[in-house]
Amino acid sequence: MKNKLARLIDKLEINRSLSKAELLELLSNRNDDVLAYLQERAEKVRQSIYGTDVYTRGLIEFTNHCKNDCFYCGIRRSNKNAERYRLSKEHILDCCKTGYGLGFRTFVLQGGEDPYYTDELICDIIKTIKTVYPDCAVTLSIGEKSRESYQAFYDAGADRYLLRHETASDEHYNKLHPSNMSLQTRKQCLFALKEIGYQVGCGFMVGSPYQTDESIVADLLFIQELNPHMVGIGPFIPHKDTPFAHERAGSLELTLYLLSIIRLMLPEVLLPSTTALGTISPKGRERGILAGANVVMPNLSPINVREKYTLYDNKICTGDEAAECRMCMQNRMEGIGYSLTVSRGDYKNIN
Ligand code: 5AD
Ligand code: FES
Repeated sequence: MKNKLARLIDKLEINRSLSKAELLELLSNRNDDVLAYLQERAEKVRQSIYGTDVYTRGLIEFTNHCKNDCFYCGIRRSNKNAERYRLSKEHILDCCKTGYGLGFRTFVLQGGEDPYYTDELICDIIKTIKTVYPDCAVTLSIGEKSRESYQAFYDAGADRYLLRHETASDEHYNKLHPSNMSLQTRKQCLFALKEIGYQVGCGFMVGSPYQTDESIVADLLFIQELNPHMVGIGPFIPHKDTPFAHERAGSLELTLYLLSIIRLMLPEVLLPSTTALGTISPKGRERGILAGANVVMPNLSPINVREKYTLYDNKICTGDEAAECRMCMQNRMEGIGYSLTVSRGDYKNIN
């Protein structure tokens, strides 16, 4: 590896930021040696804060109805082949019960943007979960809402909110979404969530159609600016019933590269090794942890709806019971010298 790139990586570790030109240089000169060095540094930083603990979140995919029509997503409104479902409040609570018994202390309620779930209903679900499981955190991942709705969910007890920004380049954003969606609105939501007091997560897909090194640099600069508690990144994977059916999937290498860069930029960040990463490579999630990630999100959704929540093709874990998934994940993490913790897994604010 050229000394210059090693120096850039060291600078990133010390300053926790790089300029636009430096990030572009780091991205455009990537090779196996640079990746190895980045991973080594990211792993050190991660270990210094989180040791070998891996935090778990139980993911409950409670609705695949969505009013949006994002070009990449398998549950987009126009996909007439998607078999739609919704989980009742009781069903969601059953998932939490199973999850609690398995050691999950964070529940992530994720769904499409589905107006069936009014603010009142969402608040009621949050309040009930927090009453029955006061030692658990609730994370929402239900898209763009008004500031008032976000405030109401927060007041009802929600702790965290995931809303990937998807890309921080306006031009790129408009190639991934219909014209009624905008990056500006997305960003406004993220800043509002942060102001309200949530632990906030943004993120993007790696290798999505029309992504360039420049747009990735924009993503990294946006992450530097927002300074989120969590960042969700995973490879783009085509879905057969979308306009991007024939596009190429994102790569494992670039995803690992970016996980390491993000760990160095935000040492304390909660960084999941995603299901999408496990889908493009059999040891993808292990590789993600070794590149600096520290969170996994096994699926707690009922087995009969798993197949229906397909954002992309060939998604893994759709046939496994929650308990199997949890054990499988535990074995995978222990296999690389890490362990799953039974804890809420909150953001550690070191500084
Ligand atoms: N490939 C990978 N990730 C996807 N997502 C949606 N569709 C795909 C796809 N085809 C991601 C988006 C969204 C998150 C819930 O899933 O980034 O924010
Ligand atoms: Fe779900 Fe391995 S994590 S089966």
